[in-house]
Amino acid sequence: MAAKKVHPGVYRFRGGLATLNYAPGFRVYDEKLIRARGREYRMWDPYRSKLSAALLKGLKSFPFAEDSSVLYLGASSGTTPSHLSDICCQGFIYCVECSKRMMRELIPVSMKKNNMIPILADANRPQDYMHTIASVDVLYQDVAQKNQSEILLKNARIFKPKHAILLIKARSINAVENPKKVFREEINQLKGDFRVREKIDLRPYDKDHVFVNLERK
Ligand SMILES: C[S@@+](CC[C@H](N)C(=O)[O-])C[C@H]1O[C@@H](n2cnc3c(N)ncnc32)[C@H](O)[C@@H]1O
Repeated sequence: MAAKKVHPGVYRFRGGLATLNYAPGFRVYDEKLIRARGREYRMWDPYRSKLSAALLKGLKSFPFAEDSSVLYLGASSGTTPSHLSDICCQGFIYCVECSKRMMRELIPVSMKKNNMIPILADANRPQDYMHTIASVDVLYQDVAQKNQSEILLKNARIFKPKHAILLIKARSINAVENPKKVFREEINQLKGDFRVREKIDLRPYDKDHVFVNLERK
């Protein structure tokens, strides 16, 4: 079966999405590996990756290219960063993660996918890692913190990415307030620096997050 390219490095395949495996034979989570016409694809699970969910929910403006470099805040064990490593195969994925336990899982992934650079740091303190990063085209942030917009702005003002993606989790910010109000207030904080291109509700793949696609003014 042929894979149809739908965005740079992203293929529609067997009713789902897939990326071309940067490290053939290597599996990061329990994703299926499929060989077709001499190439190996990794199926991209929308229940495990909010970027895959956003694409299936109709994300129009895809900010990643083969040579993009990405600052990824909240890399965890590398599920979504590993697909970005496939997509941005000529760039770097700078993977910031504050949990040592997650870092122990991320390091073996980045040894196989050597355009992923693991950085053990707090995303609230970009001054601690700014010297290890050359340039950033896209900032991707998925951290469950109370000050999500503040973290994004602190990093954006240092690294000046053209694009940013923010996953907002309302319950991490305010567990009792109406989620719609929380989303609106967080997005309003970004409007001085960014234009909102798209806002995507990720249900049914993820019921807690809103995906916000931003472009720097
Ligand atoms: C929801 S998980 C990210 C999942 C990942 N984005 C993916 O799709 O594969 C959130 C991660 O953010 C990390 N995190 C939370 N606060 C952080 C901070 N201030 N700095 C860096 N990482 C943080 C957590 O340890 C956790 O691993």
